[in-house]
Amino acid sequence: MHQDTAAAAFLRRNMVLQLMLLMFSLSSFPSVTAECPDKCTCVKSNVRCAYQELDRIPDLISPDTTDLDLRFNKIRDIEPKSLTHLTELKILDFINNIISDLKNGAFANLSKLQILYLDRNTIKSIETGVFNNLTTLEELWLGSNSIHTLDSEMFKGLTKLNTLYLSDNMIRNIPPGIFDSLTSLSILRLDKNPLTCDCDMLWFVNVLKKIRDDNWFHDRNWDATCHFPIKISGKSLVEITENDFQCASPDVIEVPENKTVSVGEQLQLSCKAVGNPAPSITWAKDDIDLELGQRVQVFQNNTLIISKVERTDGGQYKCVASNSLGQKSFEAMVKVNGLAENGSNTMFGVIPFFIIIIIFANCVLYNDIL
Ligand SMILES: *[C@@H]1O[C@H](CO)[C@@H](O)[C@H](O)[C@H]1NC(C)=O
Ligand SMILES: *[C@@H]1O[C@H](CO)[C@@H](O)[C@H](O)[C@H]1NC(C)=O
Ligand SMILES: *[C@@H]1O[C@H](CO)[C@@H](O)[C@H](O)[C@H]1NC(C)=O
Ligand SMILES: *[C@@H]1O[C@H](CO)[C@@H](O)[C@H](O)[C@H]1NC(C)=O
Repeated sequence: MHQDTAAAAFLRRNMVLQLMLLMFSLSSFPSVTAECPDKCTCVKSNVRCAYQELDRIPDLISPDTTDLDLRFNKIRDIEPKSLTHLTELKILDFINNIISDLKNGAFANLSKLQILYLDRNTIKSIETGVFNNLTTLEELWLGSNSIHTLDSEMFKGLTKLNTLYLSDNMIRNIPPGIFDSLTSLSILRLDKNPLTCDCDMLWFVNVLKKIRDDNWFHDRNWDATCHFPIKISGKSLVEITENDFQCASPDVIEVPENKTVSVGEQLQLSCKAVGNPAPSITWAKDDIDLELGQRVQVFQNNTLIISKVERTDGGQYKCVASNSLGQKSFEAMVKVNGLAENGSNTMFGVIPFFIIIIIFANCVLYNDIL
């Protein structure tokens, strides 16, 4: 009996405490439970707005939201400001909308995002930095869109990403190094893309082969097949070898020559290289990349022309030919003589200069003595 009343008193006290807590929580956070965007259902921190014909991301989404479902709507655009307050978001789902591009800043503040679904939209262009802040992202779904080109910096910093879906797009080339920072990647889907298996693709073929040999190549997880050229269309990327094309590292076939020019004259240095893929050529002077402009130009034929040579143009010039298989360089020395005309009267340019210095030095001395 005695114990019963004590227990009852304890229960009563406990209930009062809970009631007070409830009233406190109701009065201090009235807006959180009340706010739910029009046409959406909100349960705890989940906001569900699927199949609502929405043409834009709704306003008034609570900043506590962790799961936002916007599937099967008519959203065209992810405006940079519409999501930035949702810093708690973990899952964001845009499957089956009509988004056509992704602009920098769209996902700027989503530092806790783990899964981003963007499949079945009409995405054509993706600005390079748009995913860069998503350091906790684990899955990125971009399948069944119209993506043509990938940028080598596009997935930079996504160190937690383990799943990347790019199936069923219009991708032809995979830029070298694009997956380098994806250290957690275990599923990469590239099937149903018109991949061009030329020499530029060799680097990726080698990555795939390494993954297969390291024994973590699971069934279709890294599936990708060549679409072009036609003769190997349908062949899996891991099956192709260097022998399927005539790949060759650059070879310079016309080297720049050592030259002596005079101030004011034109300097021409030519450089021609062959290779497959066709090598690109850059010029450097004294091992620093040459700054091009009106006076210093490189033409389509890779010839370097300096229109009015100055004294400081003398030095070592290097032409560097590079492609995905390697690079080769050639050097030439350029000497610049003092004055134009015969190039033999350098001394005449220098002597008057010394005379002026001597006269000037004398004046200074003379003044000091006085
Ligand atoms: C990002 O979040 C911070 C803090 O949560 C906030 O101050 C800032 O305004 C947000 N940025 C944008 C663009 O909304
Ligand atoms: C990434 O986040 C930083 C701060 O956290 C912010 O200043 C920057 O604008 C964001 N960048 C992008 C591309 O969203
Ligand atoms: C150009 O000059 C450098 C050094 O001045 C020399 O080593 C090189 O053999 C020369 N090249 C040609 C093609 O004469
Ligand atoms: C390269 O093109 C420039 C400009 O068209 C021309 O002046 C030059 O003679 C060409 N050089 C060679 C080696 O073809």
